[in-house]
Amino acid sequence: MTAPGRIADRSARPAAEPIIRMIGVDKAFGDHVVYRDMYLDVPKGQTTTIIGPSGGGKSVCMKMIIGLLRPDRGRILVDGADVTEMGEEELRALRRRVAYVFQGGALFDSMTVADNVAYGLREHTDLSEEEIDAKVRACLDMVGLSDDLLDEMPSSLSGGMKKRVALARSIAMEPDVILYDEPTTGLDPKNIAVIGDMILKLQSELGVTSLVVTHDMPMAFRVSDHIAMLSDHKFPFVGTPYEMATSEVDLVRDFVHGRIADAP
Ligand SMILES: Nc1ncnc2c1ncn2[C@@H]1O[C@H](COP(=O)(O)OP(=O)(O)O)[C@@H](O)[C@H]1O
Ligand SMILES: [Mg+2]
Repeated sequence: MTAPGRIADRSARPAAEPIIRMIGVDKAFGDHVVYRDMYLDVPKGQTTTIIGPSGGGKSVCMKMIIGLLRPDRGRILVDGADVTEMGEEELRALRRRVAYVFQGGALFDSMTVADNVAYGLREHTDLSEEEIDAKVRACLDMVGLSDDLLDEMPSSLSGGMKKRVALARSIAMEPDVILYDEPTTGLDPKNIAVIGDMILKLQSELGVTSLVVTHDMPMAFRVSDHIAMLSDHKFPFVGTPYEMATSEVDLVRDFVHGRIADAP
């Protein structure tokens, strides 16, 4: 685990206004309850990490935030606007501001790295090809990739590089919020550290709000301003890494020490 001094330093950041609010949310699939009366605030310009068991509802939470799934009850506010009441047009606009970096990366295999990163810009903006080229290079640079890779196909990249290209594609659209769904799954420790660096850098240089789902406790402690613990269909604990590391609540201690069972 990260040294306590480091945790305490990051915890010193003042609380910010929430940009995302989930208020009294219920979500079930048939009789399988995922959320019941769930609340979660995500402060603007900071990094919040969700930890919780596999199958517990972490991806469902992210999908509800961008309106890919609708809750059965409750409100989901993004910058004050209720996602549950948005039509298709508003949802498309929302998804440009709130980027969901999918579990697995999901690049287009038949397109070069450059075309992958440029994809959203060509679809959704009126930028010229020259402007797009400059932006693609800047975004690759931001995630620590050289422009030697522009003409490579995704199949020739390592898993860690694919995730960085996917991230470059997301930041090209200049989102206000990035939802990272298990960004380090399947990566080795060195690449996990690199992705952690990216999350910290994008947050500090672009001021984005980040919501991260991870199983990796050291990473959660390293990148987070706030950690939300998913258990029993809601988030019974939300606190700074320091509050989490020093909590005397059994449930929280079990999470910190990796004693969590997967959801049935
Ligand atoms: N579209 C769906 N239809 C039915 N069940 C779903 C759907 N999406 C997720 N689930 C179920 O909801 C629960 C939470 O899923 P998920 O959010 O993907 O878990 P995780 O915390 O691992 O990301 C799981 O039991 C999963 O099977
Ligand atoms: Mg998931």
